[in-house]
Amino acid sequence: MPVKILMVCLGNICRSPLAEGILQSKLPADKFTVDSAGTGNWHAGQGPDHRSVATAKNRGLDISCQKARQIKVSDFTEFDHIYVMDSSNLRDVQQLAPNASAKAKVKLMMDEIFPGQKIDVPDPYFGGPEGFDKVYDMLDEACEMVAGKLLKEHSA
Ligand code: 4NP
Repeated sequence: MPVKILMVCLGNICRSPLAEGILQSKLPADKFTVDSAGTGNWHAGQGPDHRSVATAKNRGLDISCQKARQIKVSDFTEFDHIYVMDSSNLRDVQQLAPNASAKAKVKLMMDEIFPGQKIDVPDPYFGGPEGFDKVYDMLDEACEMVAGKLLKEHSA
């Protein structure tokens, strides 16, 4: 059974699709499954924002085939680790968690590098293209840490 990781943001079209693609690229596909979802449903069924697709492509990743969806309660049993992009995602996802063990799976993404500092991966939706590069850099660094940890935890 692969270890399953879910990346979560608000719309599931800008940040979490990048997080999904980046983490996937750092882990062996036979042992790890990475997916993403949004707390909102406005973009369900759509592909990622064209700016996220372009930013990923510039760095050698193809995320164009992803489809947005909203997080659901069954995700808490389906997934082993749930990473959220910002503090409002954290609040929303924790509120949806059906029990304490589900809630314990939810972590703020940047806490992986800067524990307890409550750093958000900023929402780039209403800004310019440079916001997407910044998000990519933050996520690449955090995913490197997450991948290292997961590979160590699940190597036995
Ligand atoms: P994301 O960005 O949460 O990184 O996917 C957003 C995408 C869409 C909206 C907000 C944030 N929106 O308001 O539609």
